[in-house]
Amino acid sequence: MAKEQTVSKRQLEIQLGKLKILETPKLGLEQYPVSSEVAAELLYMAGFEHRDLHGETIDLGTGTGRLAIGAVIMGSMKVVGVDIDERSIALARENAIAAGVQVEWVVSDVDEVVGKYDTVIMNPPYGTRSPHLDVRFLKRAFELAPISYSIHKSSTRDYLRGVIAKKNRKVDDVRTMSLNIPHLFPFHHKKWENVKVDLYRIVS
Ligand SMILES: C[S@@+](CC[C@H](N)C(=O)[O-])C[C@H]1O[C@@H](n2cnc3c(N)ncnc32)[C@H](O)[C@@H]1O
Repeated sequence: MAKEQTVSKRQLEIQLGKLKILETPKLGLEQYPVSSEVAAELLYMAGFEHRDLHGETIDLGTGTGRLAIGAVIMGSMKVVGVDIDERSIALARENAIAAGVQVEWVVSDVDEVVGKYDTVIMNPPYGTRSPHLDVRFLKRAFELAPISYSIHKSSTRDYLRGVIAKKNRKVDDVRTMSLNIPHLFPFHHKKWENVKVDLYRIVS
């Protein structure tokens, strides 16, 4: 039976803010974490506003697990978190233990993931280092579940809308936020980089 979700958006944000992130991320894998504010917004949109986090949920490119752990807190019965990077999954595992939640962690390329889920939730690479990796993640999401929640750079909006339409999916809810990315990479000159992102709900 689906669990009743009782946490507020603010409580969720505080809880997710306590989880560890990688201190030395790999630039080639675009390992920038979602902020706890944006994570809580996406999870609330999915779990509270649309009631999409009750069954089986998968987080593609989970990194250190913020969205996957948040999906459990929001009431998903089962959550799988997938990332190609073993180091990220090791830290995600630690984070889940510290948060007291159960997630099935998988080290895998997104292209190798199999199964059927109710909902995909993800903050994928934006394709800035590996061209069209964002599109690869989206296409995989559509194969794995009927409903996807995904975060993308707002500057790619028109292009992604075309990709989504070609796959016979539609965006039925979207909101724009500022994502603060901590100073992690040498080309970041400020303490925080601020990127405009769109949070999508995509349905069949
Ligand atoms: C933008 S980060 C987001 C991390 C996490 N979802 C978050 O929001 O904090 C993208 C993640 O995708 C992972 N990744 C990159 N290429 C991948 C691939 N081909 N298959 C699976 N994961 C991949 C990276 O290791 C990284 O953790």
